[in-house]
Amino acid sequence: MPDGRLLAVSDLHLGITENHAFLERLRPTGPDDWLIVAGDVGERVETVEWALASLAERFAKVIWTPGNHELWSTTDEHAHLTAPERYRLLVDRCRAHGVLTPEDPYAVRTDGPAGPYAVAPVFTLYDYTWRVPGVTDKRQSLARAHENGVVCTDEYRIDLGPYAGLEDWCRERVEATEKTLAAHDPEVPLVLASHWPLDRRPTDILHYPDFAQWCGTELTADWHRRFHVTAAVYGHLHIPRTTWYEGVRFEEVSLGYPREWRRRGHPRGLLRQILPYPGPSEQPVPAPDA
Ligand SMILES: [Fe+2]
Ligand SMILES: [Fe+2]
Repeated sequence: MPDGRLLAVSDLHLGITENHAFLERLRPTGPDDWLIVAGDVGERVETVEWALASLAERFAKVIWTPGNHELWSTTDEHAHLTAPERYRLLVDRCRAHGVLTPEDPYAVRTDGPAGPYAVAPVFTLYDYTWRVPGVTDKRQSLARAHENGVVCTDEYRIDLGPYAGLEDWCRERVEATEKTLAAHDPEVPLVLASHWPLDRRPTDILHYPDFAQWCGTELTADWHRRFHVTAAVYGHLHIPRTTWYEGVRFEEVSLGYPREWRRRGHPRGLLRQILPYPGPSEQPVPAPDA
């Protein structure tokens, strides 16, 4: 058994009581494992902090990036905060527990069997550019989604604060992230960890194609080719699987909602091993108490 694995999970959705048991079952395989948590831990700040703090006690390093659910306005004591303010608060809470965020320098691993590599938590949102054929702008795209009854709850629960549209926040995040990626040493391969997929193709199999507009942005489409990326980890779609684009491995690592995991189970285990890459005959990483 190699030491120092990089594992990943997303979409724990701990706001749902039936998902609580997952948290206890997320265990490292050894003392040097790192864990990516790619968003949608929950809606309440306290829930997210509690979950990340307990994971930080078990794993040598925890790297978090937010999902849309972390940005939602909730009825808790932080209800007055806008989504950008909620994000900043969560970053502060993460730092109190030593959890890395998109605001921190990338974690670089040089000592493990797969090293060296760096883990880049990426927070880039979406901008309504992943539209269905024939739809040319955001207004049309949203109108079509309303007609089809496929409207993401984000539309009602994300308070954008100073931004006129989520696409403005997205553009700002993309520009800042691009600069950081460009400044990274190209000799050290990157694992990109984001909630939303950076490439549109994983959304091709969505049951409701209109939902893709809430899943990412065309602005990140070439990142896995432009930068030295060894794997791109994401969630949000709740369709756990591995796909390859231009020779780069994309790992969807969601646990998802009870109606989803009851139907499909967890055929790849609760935690996905990202590095060392276990190969196409990948075996699930077993939880010690499973
Ligand atoms: Fe989710
Ligand atoms: Fe999500």
